[in-house]
Amino acid sequence: MPVQAIAWSPSGAVRIVDQRALPEAKIERDLESGEAVAEAIRTLQLRGAPLIGIAAAMGLVAGTRELRAAPRERFLARVDELVRLLGATRPTAVNLRWALDRMARVARGTPGTWGGAAVWERLQAEATAIWEEDRAMCRRIGEAGLPLLPDGAKVLTHCNAGALATGGIGTALAPIYLAHEAGRRLHVFVDETRPVLQGARLTAWELVHAGIPCTVIADAVAGLLMRQARVDLVIVGADRIAANGDFANKIGTYSLAVLARHHGVPFYCAAPSTTIDPALADGDGIPIEQRGPEEVKTVAGRPVAPAAAAALNPAFDVTPARYVSGFVTDRGLEQPPFGDAAGRG
Ligand code: MRU
Repeated sequence: MPVQAIAWSPSGAVRIVDQRALPEAKIERDLESGEAVAEAIRTLQLRGAPLIGIAAAMGLVAGTRELRAAPRERFLARVDELVRLLGATRPTAVNLRWALDRMARVARGTPGTWGGAAVWERLQAEATAIWEEDRAMCRRIGEAGLPLLPDGAKVLTHCNAGALATGGIGTALAPIYLAHEAGRRLHVFVDETRPVLQGARLTAWELVHAGIPCTVIADAVAGLLMRQARVDLVIVGADRIAANGDFANKIGTYSLAVLARHHGVPFYCAAPSTTIDPALADGDGIPIEQRGPEEVKTVAGRPVAPAAAAALNPAFDVTPARYVSGFVTDRGLEQPPFGDAAGRG
């Protein structure tokens, strides 16, 4: 079984695997408040588009727990405050906004006379449902992507779109897990994914634990491998997919897509339908998170650039739809345009 990235603790706190410590140590942390969850998302203790949506929903539950006996206005004011706080942590993944909107609707839309405890329980059930639905979507993505991975396939992936990024077995890694389970022999090339190294630290850790053969490469190696015909296909995740199929994913995805097109290597994007933002016509409207320069200027806490040098650190880029061979979603293998996503209501 791949790692479970999030859970409720027995006392109702949000239990996460602190991903900053991987691969050296697997440390679980219990987050008792909405503020602690927001801080964990901001500092990449947990990350990945689906997972931050699930965590934000659970954080809203943790953050309203003490107000179960409060009057309606006070309870809802706290919900609004947490929606703002959690929603401002990371701008690119649409799953975060989607999950929080869904939670806010449950908080406000409860009919009948006010009962804070009952509303809070509905919020808890909704957050759990968001998590369970994501787990089910991951599996369906895996099933939809399985035909892309025949025995002996050599796959390249970028960043981490695995169990550590979702409520289930991942998105880009889901077909890989299922193909391995079905006895197919695969080899996965894992881009290290500078600057934060989600590929080397997280994806390789997941694959090694699952017994799936993998090779970590510096990001710059991908082109050489494609030129040598050592990559059969590329599968990556997504943080937001526009209606026309342009999609944002970890910085470096666009370069990979261009390389794949140049070398005739199929390039797939795997994501749940909750990552589709049908309100955006194309990728130009996707907000790109800019992170601090220290992530670029250090590796494992050690400086790798002069202190006085400037650094640019966009966390994501946008890949135009024309580079994508297909979208592997919980609804099957799809092509844009995308209308309103399933589950978005
Ligand atoms: O900055 P991160 O680590 O949150 O970026 C994650 C990615 O870009 C993933 O590929 C994406 O969220 C898909 S996760 C299933």
